[in-house]
Amino acid sequence: MRAARFDRYGPAEVLYEARVPKPVPEPGQVLVRVHATSVNGGDLHIRAGRVKVLTGRKFPMATGVDFTGEIASAAPGLEVGDRVWGLRRAGGVAAEYIAVDPDRLSLAPKGLDLVEAAALPVGTTAITALRDKARLKAGERLLVRGAAGGVGAIAVQLGHAMGAHVTALTGAGTVDLVRELGADEAHDYRRADPAALGSFDVVLSTTGTGLPTYRRLLSPRGRMVTIAFDTDHPLPSLSDIAGAHRALEAGGVRVLPA
Ligand SMILES: NC(=O)c1ccc[n+]([C@@H]2O[C@H](COP(=O)([O-])OP(=O)(O)OC[C@H]3O[C@@H](n4cnc5c(N)ncnc54)[C@H](OP(=O)(O)O)[C@@H]3O)[C@@H](O)[C@H]2O)c1
Repeated sequence: MRAARFDRYGPAEVLYEARVPKPVPEPGQVLVRVHATSVNGGDLHIRAGRVKVLTGRKFPMATGVDFTGEIASAAPGLEVGDRVWGLRRAGGVAAEYIAVDPDRLSLAPKGLDLVEAAALPVGTTAITALRDKARLKAGERLLVRGAAGGVGAIAVQLGHAMGAHVTALTGAGTVDLVRELGADEAHDYRRADPAALGSFDVVLSTTGTGLPTYRRLLSPRGRMVTIAFDTDHPLPSLSDIAGAHRALEAGGVRVLPA
């Protein structure tokens, strides 16, 4: 079958189409014929080599996490031909077929075509972050960093739907877009003074830079959820996340690692 691979870290041009064996599902796994896959922020960081301290140098590497497709081998509750969407944490979904654990996929929504739907699985991170981890409540003040990204754009809409007051930090070109998505306030992150943004009950950071600055904006019972490394400084970033976890034990700040 055909599958995307790369033999060195770099820009999109390092990707090439390889011929690889069709996967054989392990017991309990299902075979999916991939219809579409999106390129999310994590895929870009990995392919560019920004987290090679974590991903190593074993090439060729596969790519892609979010997918839509059709079930190619029947499994409990799933029939051949069922339209599904999901996330394969191990990556490699940019391929004609993938073997997936069934708890990593579900039936795709009927109202979306499978190409559009492939852009959405990454957004489930926003549900986990805001609803399950931060337990965002109506009337609370939410700050979303990276508000036009794959995760952030869902977080802005979800925060708005949950009744929070949403402040968004995004690039200059997407300030209007995130307002349309439901942000009450939107600022260009390259120009905004964090100290002037006010205080927040929940901060969702989809970028790993400057976390201490944003943690200082939390209200006394505030919770901060971060899902990304600082890719320029991955090792200090890991240590920062670990330190923030200890702060959680002490109460007050809540930071969750990627
Ligand atoms: N832990 C998890 O489960 C999980 C799940 C999904 C994603 N992630 C991670 O989360 C990160 C974001 O993923 P994504 O798919 O949403 O990425 P994305 O689609 O590339 O979006 C990132 C956004 O962040 C903006 N941005 C960059 N630097 C910023 C800053 N300093 N302040 C505010 N905004 C900034 C970018 O705007 P410009 O383009 O204008 O610079 C871009 O719109 C990635 O590192 C990914 O690996 C983790």
